[in-house]
Amino acid sequence: MSLKISFPKASAKPKGAIVVCAFEGGELGAQAKALDKTLKGFITANLKNNVQFTGKNGEILGLGAPAGGAVTHITLLGLGKDQDLDALKTETAGGKLAAALTKSGTESATLLGEKSKKLKTETLAAHLANGFALRAYDFDRYKSKPDKKDKPPLKLKTLSVVTPNPANTKKLFEDLSRVRSGTLLARDLVNTAPNDLYPESYAKIIQNELKPLGIEIEIIDDKKLEKLGMGGISAVGQGSSRKPRMVIMRWNGAPPPKTKAKNLSTLGFVGKGVTFDTGGISLKPGPNMDEMKMDMGGSAAVVGLMKTLALRGAKCNAVGVVGLAENMPSSNAYRPGDIIKTYAGKTIEVLNTDAEGRLVLADCLTYIQKTYKPEFIIDLATLTGAILIALGHEYCGTFANDDTLWKQMEKASEQSGEKLWRMPLDEVWTKEVESEIADLQNTGKSRNAGSCTAAAFLGHFIEEGTRWAHMDIAGTAWRKSDQPTVPKFGSGFGVRVLNDLVAKYYES
Ligand code: BES
Ligand code: ZN
Ligand code: ZN
Repeated sequence: MSLKISFPKASAKPKGAIVVCAFEGGELGAQAKALDKTLKGFITANLKNNVQFTGKNGEILGLGAPAGGAVTHITLLGLGKDQDLDALKTETAGGKLAAALTKSGTESATLLGEKSKKLKTETLAAHLANGFALRAYDFDRYKSKPDKKDKPPLKLKTLSVVTPNPANTKKLFEDLSRVRSGTLLARDLVNTAPNDLYPESYAKIIQNELKPLGIEIEIIDDKKLEKLGMGGISAVGQGSSRKPRMVIMRWNGAPPPKTKAKNLSTLGFVGKGVTFDTGGISLKPGPNMDEMKMDMGGSAAVVGLMKTLALRGAKCNAVGVVGLAENMPSSNAYRPGDIIKTYAGKTIEVLNTDAEGRLVLADCLTYIQKTYKPEFIIDLATLTGAILIALGHEYCGTFANDDTLWKQMEKASEQSGEKLWRMPLDEVWTKEVESEIADLQNTGKSRNAGSCTAAAFLGHFIEEGTRWAHMDIAGTAWRKSDQPTVPKFGSGFGVRVLNDLVAKYYES
């Protein structure tokens, strides 16, 4: 992304495209009022003629500018009710501004920061800028460079956010940038075409991204996976010429304990990384199958989270395990009717090769428990179409076997704005995925409660006493339309909420 954001102090002579803030009811912010005065009441005069602009959060009004002056355009940005404004609403407003400015073809703009009743100037400015940057993300890797004779499309290149306290604002913005970088990495991975992102190439991308940040990387290739007895991930990957991989990422940021007795616990994160899900022999219908490039969204969130933890030097030990496989139909593919043996030793009757994510995750879950005995495990997976039916693209269905962990996740969700909704784990579904001829089967007995039977299946691979949560992000990892701070397709969902969880409860 070529957008540059800076935080200058107010200059005596405002010029170019200027954005000023107003609160609900049309009340201008203090800086906006000052500019209005300089421009001899231009803003208030124009605002008076406009009945539509009410100053609601994210509302935008282009006003033009007095003829012949240094200021070429004024945009009004609504922040909503002064007393209601918080960090997340501020980001929403920033995101909507980015969308409007991108559309208008402005190359550079100056935003006059304000303060509100609840937020300091620097907090407001940093979050406005963060929302702006989250929305201004542009995945243009696959666009050919325009010919020299053509004019390149206009793009927003610089945003200056004027603030009385540049140093503090910059510091706050840099803190936010670490989480944003992880989120944008996760989006990039989801948006990358599946002919470029397949298990082997993906493993290398992870290594190139994270190793320089001090994260230890281990890659287990297809031969080793088979040798280890990881029959789940191996079965899913065997139909493709692009062979499966498991990648382990370790961040050791916890300070050494003062007493030897205190052990350094590890936080565990697991991600489904099906780089393309055709359904396999249980082939998916053709229309919209291209969307299944996002079936590695869980792994992308784990990679993005690890990046964020490293960038901000998180004082914890965390391990991320992602299972990477491409689910293809071929003469080598696994079939409905196959019985496979997982790393845990449990056998699974495959009834539908499209229920492949749980097979990949089963081996990852066993591996992380055997190797690290984590303090908790949170897995993320684009696991079921059923969660989309239930919660749409809005909420992530979250299953947790521990109330304390869930409550912490709920708090982190409120803070981050990434919405979670608790879903039930129940013995009935645990039984439902038991097979008559093997230990387990990979689908429920009917289509009912598809997300719950999938979660219950994963539960069979959680050892007694392990605190565990499963996030079904089949809806939230992507969407075809924009949101205020998320342009279309890959959303990077999961990085922000889990980073907040770690920061709030699990750092020393
Ligand atoms: N990757 C899909 C789930 C999915 C569907 C994600 C739609 C995003 C959008 C998963 O592997 C799958 O196909 N699950 C099946 C399970 C069924 C066969 C038991 C599903 O949800 O239909
Ligand atoms: Zn599938
Ligand atoms: Zn899948």
